[in-house]
Amino acid sequence: MVITSQPPVKAAPYEQGQDLSSPNRNLTPLGSSLDSNGELMVGGCTLSELARTYGTPLYVLDEATLRATCRAYREALAAHYPGRALALYASKANSSLAISALVASEGLGLDAVSAGELLTALQGGMPAERIVLHGNNKSKEELALAASHGVTVVADNWRDLELLAELAPELSQPVRLMLRFTPGIECHTHEYIRTGHLDSKFGFDPDQLETVLKHLQNCSWGRLSGLHAHIGSQIFELQPHSDLAGVMADALALARRLGHPVEDLNVGGGLGIRYVTSDDPPSIQAWVQTVAEAVVEACRARGLELPRLLCEPGRSLVATAGVTLYSIGSCKTIPGIRTYVSVDGGMSDNPRPITYQSTYTAVLAERPTAAASDNVTVAGKHCESGDVLLKDVALPKAKPGDVLAVFATGAYNASMSSNYNRIPRPAAVLVGDGVAELVQRREQPEELLRYDVLPARLSPIT
Ligand code: LLP
Repeated sequence: MVITSQPPVKAAPYEQGQDLSSPNRNLTPLGSSLDSNGELMVGGCTLSELARTYGTPLYVLDEATLRATCRAYREALAAHYPGRALALYASKANSSLAISALVASEGLGLDAVSAGELLTALQGGMPAERIVLHGNNKSKEELALAASHGVTVVADNWRDLELLAELAPELSQPVRLMLRFTPGIECHTHEYIRTGHLDSKFGFDPDQLETVLKHLQNCSWGRLSGLHAHIGSQIFELQPHSDLAGVMADALALARRLGHPVEDLNVGGGLGIRYVTSDDPPSIQAWVQTVAEAVVEACRARGLELPRLLCEPGRSLVATAGVTLYSIGSCKTIPGIRTYVSVDGGMSDNPRPITYQSTYTAVLAERPTAAASDNVTVAGKHCESGDVLLKDVALPKAKPGDVLAVFATGAYNASMSSNYNRIPRPAAVLVGDGVAELVQRREQPEELLRYDVLPARLSPIT
């Protein structure tokens, strides 16, 4: 279904002072505006109208913001890196056919971590030669799928190499391999999303690197094309990314010395975004410039020919493009304690607050500029006290039926959603130029029974 709304031209801007070239620094999607009734619009569509048409909870994805972030990475790499470069979208942030197609059309590549993400990317039209497959415990089937399509496999451990060697007789071409190692770099982010330190389940230990590289000298089934490291996610510091370049250049020098014609250096992702006003992430340009200059400098210092520079942004590509709409239902005030405003979704469509204590920003979609007179806690509808989306936030007085818009929900919300309490997953719409298109159908309660099997002996007697 396609709905059209008022064109955004007549609308007043909603958030002032947006960073147009680096949307990860904004709270709201680019060009968010107010319609003639003062209601919030994204991509030229009035959010309350989207909620009425498609139901809630609803994931709204702004195409202009998504394209702008892709462009920002592409242009910054072209401006700051003198060699070849490619940004790969880390599709774990939000995997769908529509996003794969959009990102492919912007000339980016893609990082997948499972057969599901890989199939989504391929069917979304992402060329196989621009895809890499990650994972610390890939199945033989996942490796076979990647290798048969010519997707680059990121070897994370010895088990990957064993399984690939077993698959070798079935392969028509040598596997393009990248080697992941833990760089031993600490950064300040939630411990669940830190990966660069030595105590990590991902990648080869740096002490093993030489042994693995020597082992690969004798593997005729594969060709080592690159090295990979990733230090973590939602990082605001630039220094760890800069430090990573030196560690990776040492590994590159070693690999080339051992006869591997390694051309790709993949520095992972990790750039943070703004969830609340106090967040102040670097711009995409600043991040790319830091990384690019550090790689150039590290290679120059070691007399290395420049590799192709790859990076893997996830969150900073899609988060700010996403807004989740909820309908407000019950409101409960406990005098002297707090007011709970409950919405029709929660931890099943956004598990980040309960998992990482993440904070978000929200407004009432029909009155986004009304005075925020109440201090409330926005709770989800799941049978769990910790199912709280926003704790102690300021909102105008809310009533049942109001539409709540939560910003910066484009990354790690849909992709980490669940059916907890057998709650169906939301629909998703892509908006732009006043048009909304359904890109993910809403699950129906009866569809959730699709995979249940009731043994005959337990069937109700009829
Ligand atoms: N490359 C690799 C190998 C990764 O493991 C990740 C994220 C990325 C790239 C993309 O990182 P980004 O640019 O999005 O920071 N669920 C957590 C985030 C987990 C990140 C996992 N790996 C969250 O909701 O905060």
